[in-house]
Amino acid sequence: MDPVNVREFEALARERLDPVHYDYFAGAAQDEVTLRANESAFARLALVPRILRGAAAPALDVTLLGADASMPILMSPTAFHRLAHPDAERATARAAAEARTIMIAAMLSTVAIEDITAEAGKVAADPALWFQLYVQPDLGFTEAIVRRAEAAGCRALVVTVDSPALGRHERNDRNAFHDLPDGMRCENLRELRGGEPGSVRQVVLSPEISWRHIDWLREITPLPIVLKGALHPLDARLAVERGVDALLVSNHGGRQLDTMPATIDQLPLVAEAVEGRVPLLLDGGVRRGTDVVKALALGASAVAVGRPILWGLAADGEAGVTRVLETLRAETAHTLTLCGCDGPRAVTRDLVREVRCCH
Ligand code: FNR
Repeated sequence: MDPVNVREFEALARERLDPVHYDYFAGAAQDEVTLRANESAFARLALVPRILRGAAAPALDVTLLGADASMPILMSPTAFHRLAHPDAERATARAAAEARTIMIAAMLSTVAIEDITAEAGKVAADPALWFQLYVQPDLGFTEAIVRRAEAAGCRALVVTVDSPALGRHERNDRNAFHDLPDGMRCENLRELRGGEPGSVRQVVLSPEISWRHIDWLREITPLPIVLKGALHPLDARLAVERGVDALLVSNHGGRQLDTMPATIDQLPLVAEAVEGRVPLLLDGGVRRGTDVVKALALGASAVAVGRPILWGLAADGEAGVTRVLETLRAETAHTLTLCGCDGPRAVTRDLVREVRCCH
């Protein structure tokens, strides 16, 4: 089968992956209500195109926190790329650099952040990588890893704040999948104290992490800070007041608190609270160019994709990731043309209308 869209890449990845690892990637918390909602909410939104505008062919490029991206589609941070393909994050980084988009490299990567940025640097002169952080109660380690990300050339810090505890994934429980197989480790965790070096079990997801830690990060790093996982409008407003540079509206792909709303349903409420003071990004359930345009219409400057990248990687390494990105790019350009828009900035709120049933 030669996949022609993201969902077909998932089917191919499923054939190629160990079923336990497929479940780890595909699965989510408890009843997976939020996982399903992320995708089905997009289907409840209709696009109402404008006609006869004589629009030019769409240009997709956007600038986010000073970084240029050739399209409003970024890579969300996802852990453990080596489970998908032996080239792991090296392949993903090359594909992102080749596509000239922003990769958010996960703290829980199976290739060290220095090697990820170096690999991207082989493909593009000035690749844009951001580093995703889980703040650790061990602030010494947290500061050390931020310094490593800075020195490696990462241009922003994406702080994931939706994880005061680990989400409960019943697929993982059933499969007894709780750590990386022998021979694989989280290469960024070398300096973390406690447990087997490089084991994901060393990571502490603590309810003690608070706004104080965000203030502290602000003091220790000049990097722009993107908060990933603020869904409540009051938190979005607090984040802006605290000087956060951007928000990534995310429910962690349904992997943390189950029954959180779909991100696309929550985006307008966050946008209203933020009043355009910082850029908004969105991830969760983006599988089509039409989804990208709906997110732009409802207030996002760009979207990010998690699982689609893993499906491409598992299906065909770097080439698979490239094809997933190029499929989403082509679909987005096509959707913009059909909507009478010449680029992301021409997309307005009135292009989207809620409809009663799923298509
Ligand atoms: C994730 N996600 C994630 N987020 C994060 O901040 N740090 C991480 O280490 C991970 N790891 C991770 C692993 C896997 C297998 C998945 C599927 C997801 C969440 C990710 O960044 C993003 O929010 C969602 O994946 C977006 O939803 P979609 O695009 O997968 O529907």
